Amino acid sequence: MDTNETKTYLALLICAGILVLLIIVYVLSLMKHQRKNVSLYKEKVQAEITALENERRRFVSDLHDDFGPVLSSVKLHVASLSPSSADDEALQKKSLHLINDMLSQIHQIANNLMPNALERKGVVIALKQFADDINSTGKIKITVSSESNDLDVVKKDEIHIYRIIQEAIHNTLKHSKADRMMIDFKNTTQDIRFTIDDNGIGYNYDSSSKNSLGLGLKNIISRVEMLDGEIFIDTAVGKGTHYSIIIPNAQNQ
Ligand SMILES: Nc1ncnc2c1ncn2[C@@H]1O[C@H](COP(=O)(O)OP(=O)(O)OP(=O)(O)O)[C@@H](O)[C@H]1O
Ligand SMILES: [Mg+2]
Repeated sequence: MDTNETKTYLALLICAGILVLLIIVYVLSLMKHQRKNVSLYKEKVQAEITALENERRRFVSDLHDDFGPVLSSVKLHVASLSPSSADDEALQKKSLHLINDMLSQIHQIANNLMPNALERKGVVIALKQFADDINSTGKIKITVSSESNDLDVVKKDEIHIYRIIQEAIHNTLKHSKADRMMIDFKNTTQDIRFTIDDNGIGYNYDSSSKNSLGLGLKNIISRVEMLDGEIFIDTAVGKGTHYSIIIPNAQNQ
């Protein structure tokens, strides 16, 4: 190889090296950009979830503090009327009956939006009550089991565990044709582990994650991420649906 050939060879080698370097830099910046987009998207979804929970809380407290007392006062006024005829008395009874219905519907709506038991007795009891309500329809038997009714989690995180299971229950009722559903909690020294199983028709998780992951499943996954947890989804057509979720306990948050 003469000197000219060596020079050309070296120049080509340097060009190839620079090209490879440029490609590496380009791919790395593309990956960084993608990671940034994913994390921005996650932050956006998590902010939406937080805003939604705050809005629900505000709405429930408006219902409870404003609407409820006004209606109770209307009830007192109607009850204090002295009807002068049998027709008026029947009208008064009917009005009181309607007001009572409205009061219990307000209570029901408020409880569905933000369960009273969640704040007072914790997520396990609140879910047991939610399951009991559904079991009373006789269409499905949902069991909520836990060694303890107190989960070792930060109080503000309980709402996310509640919503995850509430959505899983809604999905089982809506899509699965299951007649059994089991929810089981375990406190370990490090974390809280819970499993959610139904014996329904199952679904193809890969295809639904690619094409039609609904808001419900997306929100389950986002809430698990907000809790710094992990979720394992095991389902297939004809196999039922099984979720296993692990979140760090209060000491490890
Ligand atoms: N327990 C289940 N059994 C059978 N199919 C399920 C179950 N859970 C979810 N799926 C399937 O996964 C899809 C996505 O569920 P996802 O909760 O994300 O959306 P959705 O329930 O259809 O709508 P929404 O946004 O109101 O929750 C469902 O449409 C359904 O096909
Ligand atoms: Mg759903």
